[in-house]
Amino acid sequence: MRTGVSPPVPGTPSPWHPGRRPRPRAQQPPGWPESAGLREIRKRLGARPPLVTPAEVAGLRRRLAGVASGRGVVIQMGDCAETFALPTPADSARTVALARTAASLVEERLGVRVVSIGRIAGQFSKPRTSPTEEVDGVQVPSFRGDLVNASAPDELSRRPEPRRLLWGYEHAARTLSLLRRAGADGGPGPGSEVGPASFPARAVAPGPVLWTSHEALILDYEEPLTRWDAAGEAWVLCSTHFPWVGERTRHVDGAHVRFLAEVANAVGCKVGPGMTPEEIVRLAGILDPDRRPGRLALIARMGEGRVGAVLPGLVEAVRGAGHPVSWLCDPMHGNTVRASSGHKTRHMSAVLAEITGFVAAVRSGGGRPGGLHLESTAESVTECVGGRSGILESQVPDAYYTACDPRLNADQALEAVAYFADALVNSSGV
Ligand code: PEP
Ligand code: CO
Repeated sequence: MRTGVSPPVPGTPSPWHPGRRPRPRAQQPPGWPESAGLREIRKRLGARPPLVTPAEVAGLRRRLAGVASGRGVVIQMGDCAETFALPTPADSARTVALARTAASLVEERLGVRVVSIGRIAGQFSKPRTSPTEEVDGVQVPSFRGDLVNASAPDELSRRPEPRRLLWGYEHAARTLSLLRRAGADGGPGPGSEVGPASFPARAVAPGPVLWTSHEALILDYEEPLTRWDAAGEAWVLCSTHFPWVGERTRHVDGAHVRFLAEVANAVGCKVGPGMTPEEIVRLAGILDPDRRPGRLALIARMGEGRVGAVLPGLVEAVRGAGHPVSWLCDPMHGNTVRASSGHKTRHMSAVLAEITGFVAAVRSGGGRPGGLHLESTAESVTECVGGRSGILESQVPDAYYTACDPRLNADQALEAVAYFADALVNSSGV
């Protein structure tokens, strides 16, 4: 049992926090209206069945322990922001097929097992740099993702609505069920040795399994979905297998890091170019105090121009402090630019350059590159420029559907995955 945590009655699906020590104020607060019944909504969320089970969460940790010791590679892919409008069953089948193709590409090249993780079934909220944004010349409150407000650019739609927490839960449950069905039909689905209560337990399907992940940003969603696992004597976040803390909320003293420190899931932490060796060692000490393989994945998102200068020192510092982390490469978030149309975009050349720089940097810091984290979709979008399919900057507006950041389409994503695998081979194996 973790120190300072008093266990509730075993099996009680109680909201996580009441009666426990207060947490610091969360950054990126959603700004719920005063009288919106948040407490009641948290209570209702706390009474819902878990979306993923502690047994599944433990299964992913075991797989990630394999990655940390060089017996596997993570491929994490999906939307920047999921919406409540999608996916359809056909979308889910395509998502699963893309994950499966990406995994087999890597497995063929490297001969190691791929851990397929989706940014899916909960990736509904976005941190924002500014509380307002300009849309078509008008200043409106920023869109914070479907879990908080609506995307239509008017004051009323952008008003934070706590009932969205319940809708998010329902939507995640539906997406999970579609994914599991797509997996059961021959492709990989989320889950592991044991299925959640509402699904029949089944053996692991041959080939990769698509686990779920999202940024644990809205603590009013995450805290009530945390359950006491009496068998493991630990709190487990049951909204997703693999939560991560974002670049804007990863402060060592912040509420998000404190929250993830207290759940037993494998957790991720984004690492941007402003990180220092001292700070990352403190963060790793909080998130991985027991130095357990499979517990912590550090997701570097430096930008192609910074990765070579900043990352080696961070890798060395974490290794020196004895944390057996997995280093993942997010070559998207440090390489966002504006197309001449005004759309946010990313160039494949920068994505691939960051991958090259990442592999070299992790190796030179004495670490092992553990995987790739992409914003991508199985749909034929033109949100990012370049790659073998040759999307031009002038074509970016043609099929631009993302609810937030620009995503690689399937061809571009597979190209990046193959490039990553080749970079590992060329830099002397996994
Ligand atoms: C994201 O992953 O969509 C994101 C906002 O990333 P970061 O926290 O690294 O900026
Ligand atoms: Co993004």
